[in-house]
Amino acid sequence: MSYINPDLPDANGEASELPPSRSPLITVPKLQELKRAGERIVMMTAYDYTFADLLDRNGVDVILVGDSLGMVIQGHRSTLPVTVEELCYHTRCVTRGMKRGLLLGDMPMLSYATLERALETSAQLLRAGAQMLKLEGAGPMLEVIHGLSRRDVAVCAHLGLTPQSLHKLGGYKVQGKEQRAAKQLLDDAIAAEQAGAEMLVLECVPAELAGQITAALQIPTIGIGAGAQCDGQVLVLHDALGLGPHRKPRFVKNFMSAEDNPSGELKGAIKAYVRAVKSGNFPGVEHGY
Ligand code: KIV
Repeated sequence: MSYINPDLPDANGEASELPPSRSPLITVPKLQELKRAGERIVMMTAYDYTFADLLDRNGVDVILVGDSLGMVIQGHRSTLPVTVEELCYHTRCVTRGMKRGLLLGDMPMLSYATLERALETSAQLLRAGAQMLKLEGAGPMLEVIHGLSRRDVAVCAHLGLTPQSLHKLGGYKVQGKEQRAAKQLLDDAIAAEQAGAEMLVLECVPAELAGQITAALQIPTIGIGAGAQCDGQVLVLHDALGLGPHRKPRFVKNFMSAEDNPSGELKGAIKAYVRAVKSGNFPGVEHGY
């Protein structure tokens, strides 16, 4: 048995007798293969073992342990109070439920403000089980993306509405609506890819702009409120299940509805979401800007 990969057969061709380690079929290089093959990538958030297992068994390709946990788990009004320790705790819970998918960990507010801090945060999240790390913004963050990528940390950039910049943005608003802002977003996306990002989340940007960005990049784009032309889609778990007291933004769809999920079971809702994204039925025009 090799310490590098205990699942590999040994020199005699015999497989390890130990239980197989977690061997994800969705890897970072696989994400770009999916883009090239035109197969849409399904992403969803999860924060615990049970839901990670449910999502992983039912075809979700990438599970994001997002700092949205600040709102849907902790009841805060924003993602800002979430700490690295809290994200590590939830990442450890989620990783135990995953066999097939890729675990994307979120870096909380200012935990990657300098390369040094980003390296420390990513070491903690990788140790907890994350395989790729997401950070918000371009500009000064390009240096951080580059530094992490050069040290073989897989990075997912997040542009458009970046919730950690809530106060500076003046609220949760669609980004890139004016021509100058749209051009800046396109330039930032290209710069993020050049700096080494391996995937890009686009949140709340006009559908047409998201389409242009997707066409300009080799790396996959994952939309949330960014129309149907991205290479994949992400939803917050609780939103997709119609849970929570708050009014839902336009890009959300409740997959527990009878029309999508006649069984009324959680499993049915996750399957319906995966089917809808893979087939291109979600998001519809009504979910975009
Ligand atoms: O934290 C999160 O769940 C996210 C998604 C909304 C993309 O960043």
